[in-house]
Amino acid sequence: MTLIVVALIYAAILAILMAVRRVSGQAGVGRDRAVPSVRRILIIGATGGTGQQLVAQALGRGYDVTAFARDPAKLGTTDPRLKVMKGDVLDVESLSRAMKGQDAVVSALGHRRFYSTGQVLSRGTANIIRAMEVDGVRRLICETSLGLGSSVGRMGLYYTLFVVPFILPLYFWDKTKQEQRIAESNLDWVIVRPGRLTGGARRGEVRHGNRVGNILITPRISRADTAGFMLDQLGSNQYLNDTPGVVW
Ligand SMILES: NC(=O)c1ccc[n+]([C@@H]2O[C@H](COP(=O)([O-])OP(=O)(O)OC[C@H]3O[C@@H](n4cnc5c(N)ncnc54)[C@H](OP(=O)(O)O)[C@@H]3O)[C@@H](O)[C@H]2O)c1
Repeated sequence: MTLIVVALIYAAILAILMAVRRVSGQAGVGRDRAVPSVRRILIIGATGGTGQQLVAQALGRGYDVTAFARDPAKLGTTDPRLKVMKGDVLDVESLSRAMKGQDAVVSALGHRRFYSTGQVLSRGTANIIRAMEVDGVRRLICETSLGLGSSVGRMGLYYTLFVVPFILPLYFWDKTKQEQRIAESNLDWVIVRPGRLTGGARRGEVRHGNRVGNILITPRISRADTAGFMLDQLGSNQYLNDTPGVVW
């Protein structure tokens, strides 16, 4: 009996995820447009694993970086081209202050409270989008995850049958809504969906696109390579309004 209930809950969760298989953006629209020049970028989630890589690599690429952090002391990097702004994505005022003068936003927002019903990812991203629209900042590069939307099933059997339905159902539901908020916006966006993240070094060579991932084996990629691929999207329209996966 218990097994049947569990199986039914699991099937229902999977069905919901499948129902939102496609983020209804306009993939490809505007790809032939000139790529705007980006110099000043705002990094959300700058104190996290991917975020710290984004900050270091963006400085290395010559961008003027504003790191948005709840606790600036966690950042541990100083650079003449790095400005740190204290804020919270749930606090619109702090986002508006940080948005002034930016050319683009790169977000690696995340958390580990997987069973929280707070919907920080979707609510926070809706605030980011609103602040961008008010300030006329057009380009948003946002990290979500393989296994969402059109990539359901591509995170390997273990994630598809166990981790997502039993450990991450609320987190993935929030992430699904986060992707929808972005796709519904009028921004120039790229949703980057990495495989399982590692703390490994940057290899520089990644596989990307709408068909990467694996139904059986969980694909992996380092936070360093994910950050590199995200920054590449600032200067490219290849995946404009699209949701590429990225894996090793
Ligand atoms: N782990 C995986 O295998 C995996 C696979 C695919 C995709 N992803 C996704 O990739 C993304 C990045 O993962 P990660 O492990 O690099 O991230 P992470 O280390 O968990 O960092 C998340 C960042 O978001 C910030 N943040 C959380 N709530 C915030 C708020 N209310 N206002 C402002 N900032 C806030 C955190 O700030 P604090 O430092 O203040 O907490 C931190 O800087 C996440 O969305 C994650 O779910 C993970």
